[in-house]
Amino acid sequence: MQSPCQLVAILDAGAQYGKVIDRRVRSLHVESIMLPMNTPTHQLNKYSAIIISGGPESVYSKSAPKFDPRVLKLNKPILGICYGMQLMVHLLGGKVEALDRREDGPCTIQVNPKSKLFASLKSKQQVLMSHGDSITQLPAGFTAIAHSGQIVAGIEGQDGRLFGVQFHPEVDLTPNGLIILQNFLFKIAKLSGNFTIKDRVGQAIKDIRQQVGQKQVLVLVSGGVDSTVCATLLRQALKPDQIKAIHIDNGFMRQNESAGVKLALEKQGIQLKVISASTEFFKQLHRVTHPETKRHRIGDTFMRVTKQAIKDLGLGDDSMLAQGTLRPDLIESASKIASRQANAIKTHHNDSPTVRKLRQSGRVIEPLSDYHKDEVREIGRQLGLPPSLVWRQPFPGPGLAIRLLCAQKPYMLPNFKTIQHQLDQFSTPQITATLLPARTVGVQGDGRTYSYFVGLSGERSWSTLLKLAKEIPKQIRQINRVIYIFGDQLKSPVTQITPTYVTPENITQLRQADYIVNQILIEFNLVRKLSQVPVISFPIGFDQPGCRSIAIRTFMTNDFMTGVPALPGQDMPMQALNKMVKQILKQVPGIARVAYDLTSKPPGTTEWE
Ligand code: XMP
Repeated sequence: MQSPCQLVAILDAGAQYGKVIDRRVRSLHVESIMLPMNTPTHQLNKYSAIIISGGPESVYSKSAPKFDPRVLKLNKPILGICYGMQLMVHLLGGKVEALDRREDGPCTIQVNPKSKLFASLKSKQQVLMSHGDSITQLPAGFTAIAHSGQIVAGIEGQDGRLFGVQFHPEVDLTPNGLIILQNFLFKIAKLSGNFTIKDRVGQAIKDIRQQVGQKQVLVLVSGGVDSTVCATLLRQALKPDQIKAIHIDNGFMRQNESAGVKLALEKQGIQLKVISASTEFFKQLHRVTHPETKRHRIGDTFMRVTKQAIKDLGLGDDSMLAQGTLRPDLIESASKIASRQANAIKTHHNDSPTVRKLRQSGRVIEPLSDYHKDEVREIGRQLGLPPSLVWRQPFPGPGLAIRLLCAQKPYMLPNFKTIQHQLDQFSTPQITATLLPARTVGVQGDGRTYSYFVGLSGERSWSTLLKLAKEIPKQIRQINRVIYIFGDQLKSPVTQITPTYVTPENITQLRQADYIVNQILIEFNLVRKLSQVPVISFPIGFDQPGCRSIAIRTFMTNDFMTGVPALPGQDMPMQALNKMVKQILKQVPGIARVAYDLTSKPPGTTEWE
């Protein structure tokens, strides 16, 4: 007989990957629920198994989320992930200590396949590590079942019920992670995996009808998959005259994008009103350089323009706002809904304070807020949207504005020389590693970083370059991104930047480069294979003062929480890449160099800001 309850509780310690655990468990047909870390023990009794997530804190930090140690005595199968494991060890009397250096990024570890958790796996495994603390003493009755060098990477309690892993089995960067979760759920917790998610489209339509009633709904359409699916769901759920669809052209769209969006939506039977608001947006970003300030200003302007549009459309005070917000958007901006703990990596503009206020008063409809991108594409497919729309690469709401790296002066803290000195150990006669005097956003150890990036130049041996890109941020914590710079090997330090702000001219320059890259992606049929290819302008002219450079950031992922760059010559044909470099240099005025981003996420995020 099956146990009556087949529900897994995921205790959320604030990891940005918490929701990915949830999705992975569900993809294995096991129902799961995310609960706060301090959920009382008696409430946990009804679940068949418990997973304790990772989080940005150290077990010793005062604000560290803790669970009741009695949870461990519930006689339930428990899997602690990263921080979750450390907390388990700490509460059971083992020792957790800070390492000299963090382990961040993909690592190779040794696992013991005799443990049920690693059943059917080979002993050498690729995993994603992201931690600063480590286990230095196991609690009584525990054995180590995995190691990363000298570091304990997995543990098992003597009754075969308590398990912990230091790495993240839930993300793409742990290729066999799903097998590990499967082993936990089916071999250890003995679940049956018979849960199927109900008809999502039917459910969403029902929910929308219930929430909206006879009211009017304003839907903001960016043209991406999420908002298009959201608008199409509304179209199916409501009467056409209840829906007002608008598209705000903020001035940071891609070439011909706004016109294309209008056309695509009209084909779905949705009348789209395009509002040109670029002047307003540029004004708000005058001399702003900090990424978070940019996002807030763009988010606020967006809401202001929206409010005006609502007024102009004559929508009533009780009208509602629909957004295509996804689960990861909320997690990454540390929304109260998704997670009480997640450290803000980037504020998403569809989660601004105004939206939060509206949300509290029940006036925001977000039919996709429980889903990840791949699930939304599936819903889009079920709704009959054309493949060109369903497979559109994501494009951030703040658009090209957050792909134009702005700076007033070089970013050179007193540690600049020391870090360059540390970097010198990675340089060879063939390849130079140069510290660049600007910074980009990254994610290291579940927390946000805004720090230096490095340019490699010289010989184009991609496997060596990618190895360097993995190793450098591991060893030098102040570096979160590594790029390869095409052209001559850099011979001297880079200490100058070209002061850059969000202006129509600078956006136009970036838009031209972005257009070239995207045309070539289509020509070489790479749009689906590469999940996203942000094109970024950065304010360094190298040997051409006053110029800027362009970076091509390829990103391959399923979950958008972790991912890797495309390997040139393999995932990214050299012919396509060479064509991009050549055309950008030839056709876009004011561009000194073209670069290729070699960074995984972590330590670098998809976007640079
Ligand atoms: P990162 O850069 O954090 O991005 O790895 C993860 C995904 O989110 C997209 N992104 C945004 N989307 N508004 C959006 O609508 C934003 O402010 C924003 N910032 C990042 C990013 O393009 C990637 O798909």
